[in-house]
Amino acid sequence: MRHVRPEIVAHRGASQHRAEHTRAAYELALQQGADGLECDIRLTRDGHLVCVHDRKVDRTSTGRGVVSTLTLDRLSQLDFGRWHDELPESADDLMQEPIGQPSAEEHERGLLTLEDLLGLLKDSPRPVKLFIETKHPVRYTGLVEAKMLAQLRRHGLNAPASKEESRVVVMSFSRMAVRRVRQHAPLLPTVLLLDRLPTSLRGGELPDWADITGPGIHLLREDPDYVARCAEQGHGTYCWTVDEPADIDLCQRTGVRYLATNAPARTRRHLESG
Ligand code: G3P
Ligand code: CA
Repeated sequence: MRHVRPEIVAHRGASQHRAEHTRAAYELALQQGADGLECDIRLTRDGHLVCVHDRKVDRTSTGRGVVSTLTLDRLSQLDFGRWHDELPESADDLMQEPIGQPSAEEHERGLLTLEDLLGLLKDSPRPVKLFIETKHPVRYTGLVEAKMLAQLRRHGLNAPASKEESRVVVMSFSRMAVRRVRQHAPLLPTVLLLDRLPTSLRGGELPDWADITGPGIHLLREDPDYVARCAEQGHGTYCWTVDEPADIDLCQRTGVRYLATNAPARTRRHLESG
C-alpha cells in the first residue's frame, strides 16, 4: 500500500544547519518548506517559557547553569548561536546546495521564548503547525502546561474548530503532562512521546487523553508494524528524530504521519525523489 508523504516537522528548527531553537533555525525551516516546527519548552526562574532542550544552557549557549534557576533577563544576554558556528561542516553538508551563511544578527541567535515562536508562526505566510514539547513537568507540577495553555489562549490557539485544523499540537514523554493538557484544553491534539514501547501499548492502543503516538525511530526499526497497529486503533504516528535516508524510507513505507527531522530540505528532497 502506498501511503501519503509524511509531513515534515523541523526538529528544534532546521537544527542541522542553524543552532537549535534560534530564530535563525526556525526561519530557515520555514524557507525550506517545513510543514511543522518542533520546540521544547522550559520555565525560567521568573516564570517565562523559553525554548531550550537541555536542563542546562551549557551545551548550547555562552552561559552556564540550569534554565529554571536563571531569569529571562540573564538568559537573554547569552549567545545561543556561537557553539553551532564552531562545529565542523560534515562531508554531507558540503555536498548540499548552498544554504547561505548564518546571519550574525543578535536577535537571530539569542534565546527564543515561546511568545517569540508563536509570533513567528502567526507571521508565517504558510499555515505551519507548531509541535510543543513540555519538559520537566514534575518539578513544576503543572505550571509549564498551565502557563503554556494561558499563552495559547491569548493567541486564540487553545480551542481549534477541530483537532485536524489545530495549528498547535502538544507533546510530552510525561503521561501526567499530556493528561493535564487534555483536561484543560480538550480540543488540542496531543502526542504521547515514547522512547520505549510498554506492553500495554504494543497493540497500538493509546490512553484516551492522547491522540497521536510518538515513538522514537529506534522503536520503528525494531517493530515497523507498530505504525499499522496504531492506524488500526485510529491513531496517527509522530516519529522522531529521522535524518537517515533508510529511516526516512521506513517512515514513508509504514505510513508515519509526522516525521521530525533536523534537516527538512534534505528530507523533503529524499521523499520527493523516492
Ligand atoms: O520531537 C520529539 C523529540 O524531540 C523528543 O526527544 O530529546 O529531542 O526532545 P528530544
Ligand atoms: Ca523535543
